[in-house]
Amino acid sequence: MDKLIIDGGVRLKGSVEVSGAKNAALPILAATLLADEKSVIKNVPTSLLDVITMVKIIRYLGAKVEVQGNTITVEPKGYKGCTAPYKFVSTMRASICLLGPLLGKQKYAEVSFPGGCVIGPRPVDLHLKGIKALGAKVKIYGGYIIADGRNLRGSHVYLGGHFGSSVLATANVMMAATLTKGRTIIENAACEPEVVDLAHFLKQMGAKIEGESTHKIEIEGVKKLAGAEHMLIADRIETGTYMIGAAITDGDIVIKKANPNHCIALIDKLREAGVSITFGKNEIHVRKTRSLKPVDVTTLPYPGFPTDMQAQFMSLMCVTKGISVITEKIYPERFMHLSELNRMGANIILEGPTAIVKGVKNLSGAPLMASDLRASAALVLAGLAGKGKSEVLRVYHLDRGYEDMEKKLSRLGAKIWREKE
Ligand code: UD1
Repeated sequence: MDKLIIDGGVRLKGSVEVSGAKNAALPILAATLLADEKSVIKNVPTSLLDVITMVKIIRYLGAKVEVQGNTITVEPKGYKGCTAPYKFVSTMRASICLLGPLLGKQKYAEVSFPGGCVIGPRPVDLHLKGIKALGAKVKIYGGYIIADGRNLRGSHVYLGGHFGSSVLATANVMMAATLTKGRTIIENAACEPEVVDLAHFLKQMGAKIEGESTHKIEIEGVKKLAGAEHMLIADRIETGTYMIGAAITDGDIVIKKANPNHCIALIDKLREAGVSITFGKNEIHVRKTRSLKPVDVTTLPYPGFPTDMQAQFMSLMCVTKGISVITEKIYPERFMHLSELNRMGANIILEGPTAIVKGVKNLSGAPLMASDLRASAALVLAGLAGKGKSEVLRVYHLDRGYEDMEKKLSRLGAKIWREKE
């Protein structure tokens, strides 16, 4: 297993390019299975473990996949598979986004039940509610969601749960509905940029979709979808992670190939804290020019503050003088990074889904255990800010979602390298 070693205390300077969005890549690669022809997806972060897993599943299902640089070509013609087995789903929960395409195209799907994970329970009730509303007969058997879609028809479905809308449930119902006769209306649909990117891809394939980027998406089923060529949007979470990288190291960096419009909630909070941020169409310039003040953050569905940035923002607040209150409203148990940050000298206490962070002057380097993808990024950021050496263990979590992170950070001047554990 690999680990990252970080010698902290270096200011990040220079420019960094962000990769294509992992969370757009996964459902869009799954959506290629709805077509009868070849699709070409560009700007794919092909070295990410989650993308590699998705490619393996698509091949397992019988489609041909070619990976060249950051371009993935999928030729689905004649694929017969309709099962996403446990061995894949257990390493990547997002495999659930195959449910919609398989059901829409093959009218039958078996997808391993994803279960819970370290960031808390991961229910699938909204996915099931959505496909049942379309007329799928669903049973859970042997750890699998088994969905029979022989009698699918357009329907009106409300997809809101305890924690608001669901990104992948919206994606699944939208994908299944593209090839389902009649009109489907999704109320309380997720409007995350990755859902919108998926809708744009499906429309290029010939799907009839309206209202993407709002909470009401309408889909008129068509008989067939063609292949399409599509360029993925920039990864807003990777973008945000580097923004905090600059803020936490007193840095001055330009983030290129980014989409600032997708990062507005984070930009707003960082500015409130005192970070200087300017941006153009595809670039964000982040500078820390003065001492920061604490700000409170509550995670919410888009365009609210993203849960996938909560851990990284907490690292920043750990070294910001004063008290900040961070409330997690999407995954109330998503605080695995907290005890690791405290081991570096942070002062954080947890009250239910709320973390109270008392800023300290310095964090000190320590051996740290990565527990999930975004928590790992938070530990790397804390390591960059900390005095002395940190070791981030179980770095495979990071490799699921950050392309070349240590290389990109090294180019910004950080002292960070990979070693075998
Ligand atoms: C996606 C992202 C993930 C991000 C999350 C929330 C991908 C591949 N992953 O995950 O990085 O953290 O959105 O922005 O795009 N819920 C239910 N029932 C369901 C489904 C979800 O109650 O059937 C709840 C979840 O427990 C959570 C909330 O809804 O509290 C939002 O989850 P959801 O948007 O579904 O997350 P994912 O789509 O799995």
